[in-house]
Amino acid sequence: MSPLTLTPSVQTVQSIQLEANGVRLLDQVRLPHEVRYLTITSADEMRHAITTMIVRGAPALGIAGAFGVVLSARANAKAYAQNLPSCMLAVLVDADLLAETRPTAVNLQWAINRMKAVMADFDGETSAELVSMLEKEAQAIFDEDLAMCQAMGRHGRKIIPRGARILTHCNAGALATAGYGTALGVIRAAFEDDNTLQVYATETRPRLQGAKLTVWELQQENIPVTLLTDSMAAWLMKQGLVDVVIVGADRIAANGDTANKIGTYSLALAAKAHEIPFYVVAPSSTIDLSIHSGEEIVIENRHADELVWIHNHNISPEGTPCYNPAFDVTPAELITGVITEHGIQTAQSLS
Ligand code: MRU
Repeated sequence: MSPLTLTPSVQTVQSIQLEANGVRLLDQVRLPHEVRYLTITSADEMRHAITTMIVRGAPALGIAGAFGVVLSARANAKAYAQNLPSCMLAVLVDADLLAETRPTAVNLQWAINRMKAVMADFDGETSAELVSMLEKEAQAIFDEDLAMCQAMGRHGRKIIPRGARILTHCNAGALATAGYGTALGVIRAAFEDDNTLQVYATETRPRLQGAKLTVWELQQENIPVTLLTDSMAAWLMKQGLVDVVIVGADRIAANGDTANKIGTYSLALAAKAHEIPFYVVAPSSTIDLSIHSGEEIVIENRHADELVWIHNHNISPEGTPCYNPAFDVTPAELITGVITEHGIQTAQSLS
């Protein structure tokens, strides 16, 4: 593990890093039993890492997209050392391909648009200069995300009651960001004040980000965490065992409707029924003011294998039709508040 020192008392894992010889990724498919880093060197490899979810989580996808553009620029600057227009064209093709890899998390398109804007404004003369400008922008996207996560933690810790039992879904932690996390960043910050708080993590079918990643990440810092299946959450609430629900987001529309990991909507409905506050934690890079409501959010549908293959066995009759949307949309009216780097506001007041 490569620790990233943030405050004197907090260290979080760093899952993605731009290096001179490539991009270093912590392979999230292999966690928690294998902590394996790989170094990738091309935009194609980055596309593969994104689609297979070696790297995942909305802010980390944005960073991965930007770093992927850098990998493309480095390769094309060699191929077209004396031909800047051809270099730029090839990088733009890769940028567009990277942007298409996962459609729901707006951070990916947002970060790639920032990289394309650098290219559009570029007034240098050599491909090498272009590479250097793109590296700077990509690293800025990373650094800004880390700062936003820490700011969300500072704001969000205020809404966590002492001794709170917090329910979270999927993984919105250091693994899903530059470090520290969004929903888990709030939990980390609150835990600094109050080590009596406890976390319930839903397993998050079908990819099990909760069981594999959130539990692992929280255990690294000795934050008490109990695992449950997604279908147990409403019953847990009914027993009076949840004080607050905190989740991340993949895209928030102008009206506050929020796309996040499939299962988030059910949690929000159950929280409403049990009068439990439900907070979304996301940087401003996840807010998409270009769309009015959640109806315009494209939901990624993933392969049926994710549902039926468990421990290398097909658990369902061969050829069973499967429904596998990776995200759902929680209507703004079910959201108590949205925590961004700027503070806490109602979902309806974002635009
Ligand atoms: O499919 P994933 O694992 O990329 O989905 C991740 C989520 O839904 C997270 O909750 C969201 O991206 C926020 S991460 C800070």
